[in-house]
Amino acid sequence: MQIDLRELEPRHAHDLMTSAIIPRPIAWVSSMNRRGRANLAPFSFFTGVSWSPPILAFSVVNRSDGTRKDTAINIEQVPEFVVNIVSVDLLSPMEESAKPIPCGADESAITGIRWIPAKTVRPYRIQEARVSFECTLERIVATGDGPHAGNLILGRIQMVHIRDDLLENEREVNWAGLDVLGRLSGNRYCAVRSVIESETN
Ligand SMILES: Cc1cc2nc3c(=O)[nH]c(=O)nc-3n(C[C@H](O)[C@H](O)[C@H](O)COP(=O)(O)O)c2cc1C
Repeated sequence: MQIDLRELEPRHAHDLMTSAIIPRPIAWVSSMNRRGRANLAPFSFFTGVSWSPPILAFSVVNRSDGTRKDTAINIEQVPEFVVNIVSVDLLSPMEESAKPIPCGADESAITGIRWIPAKTVRPYRIQEARVSFECTLERIVATGDGPHAGNLILGRIQMVHIRDDLLENEREVNWAGLDVLGRLSGNRYCAVRSVIESETN
């Protein structure tokens, strides 16, 4: 079977990509607008890019009406953010933070998490996240414009917070303790609980 993406309607391309590019970690991004209003939202088109300089990237896709999401707008206004890593126990507040906020509501009211000051950037970090990356904006790369086009946000990591008991050999995060949540397609997620150790590597 071959599917020609040049002739595919966008929602079908979405379904193909999100079901084949799995599992994806989730960047739970805290940002702030120029008036100091805090925002939190999850993005699973997320990865590391380089370690010297230490850069990560996630993609904020435009809404169906072509408008940009708050995270992309905020990061242009205040070019700093915190990427919190989502572990399995944070599924519910993470999903809550993905819903558009009703007018007048405050996202900091999401139950089950506490917002605490970051060290090097203005947006808050989430205390319950076992790992958080404080980043400054390196660059935004637009992959087109209009509905569903991406804004790839590249961040330079300034500081990492790691829960004390998860740091191994003073340099690595313990994968089992991180208990990271992976995104599959639709409403499906996975946990990293069965690890294959290669004999040859
Ligand atoms: C697990 C999960 C992963 C998501 N990944 C993405 C993504 O990679 N890119 C994106 O644009 N939206 C993604 N979303 C949807 C956004 O989180 C959602 O549109 C959110 O309301 C954006 O918030 P904002 O307008 O405050 O930035 C994801 C949602 C969930 C629940």
